[in-house]
Amino acid sequence: MTESTEARRPANRVLPHELPASLRDAGLDNWIREPLDDAVDRRRRIIMPPAAAVMGTPASAHQGALLAEARHPDTVFMMGDNPALPTMPPCPTLKDFFQLRFSKIARTHLLQSARVAREHGLAEKVIMACLLHDIAIAGLLSANHGYWGAQMVAPYVDEEIAWSIEKHEALRYFPDESVGYRYPDAYIDYFGPDYRPPGYLRREAEAARQHRWYMTSRLVTINDIYSFDPNVVVSYDEFEDVVGRNFRQPREGLGFDGSPVAHMWRTMIWPNNFL
Ligand SMILES: [Fe+2]
Ligand SMILES: [Fe+2]
Repeated sequence: MTESTEARRPANRVLPHELPASLRDAGLDNWIREPLDDAVDRRRRIIMPPAAAVMGTPASAHQGALLAEARHPDTVFMMGDNPALPTMPPCPTLKDFFQLRFSKIARTHLLQSARVAREHGLAEKVIMACLLHDIAIAGLLSANHGYWGAQMVAPYVDEEIAWSIEKHEALRYFPDESVGYRYPDAYIDYFGPDYRPPGYLRREAEAARQHRWYMTSRLVTINDIYSFDPNVVVSYDEFEDVVGRNFRQPREGLGFDGSPVAHMWRTMIWPNNFL
């Protein structure tokens, strides 16, 4: 091959594209994927950040500029598989979401909580609830994560497990000395010593305390340990048996079973879809 042949660009190669300075200044070049060899085609793909991710931040002012970028013939919005993410199998299981979608820190937190619950000899419902309790933070949204998480798993688990996941969010803020649960030191770091949970969470916690399943959710908070030690490795396989008995995996795969929450699982499969 001669030097001049080597230097010639392939006909389908997209030339580097100069982004408007306003988008670069807003850091939005992070949301644009330049065409790479592993891409499904040679077009640039724009990820429009979801409203919930950018509201209240400078990035929210640039949605118009991102829309304008998509008018370029070499540019489209991200739809379907993002090559930056591992491809999910056609019928994804809970294990696939743990391994291919959840961040390492969130996955480890869930697995460690479940392990501690098991070491404490707690019932399988509690172990399962611990394994799932922050599933929304791991793959979807942090705000109101107890409620999102409970809805995501409700069709597949015992009602008591979903309930305890929903209520753990509110119960986390309120001590129960009778079972040795204190306000988390981590929350003082995270939210400041002057943070007070809003009234709706206080009412939720008070109501949960009167419920017959209170202790299931309280045990989730007790085993909700904030140990983010990267050297601790817990394998999902340790819980295959518990999951097998306590999580009704849909035959069609999570996201494709037509359940009222299938869209939440699809959002984790294709989190960057424009629509
Ligand atoms: Fe939580
Ligand atoms: Fe947690």
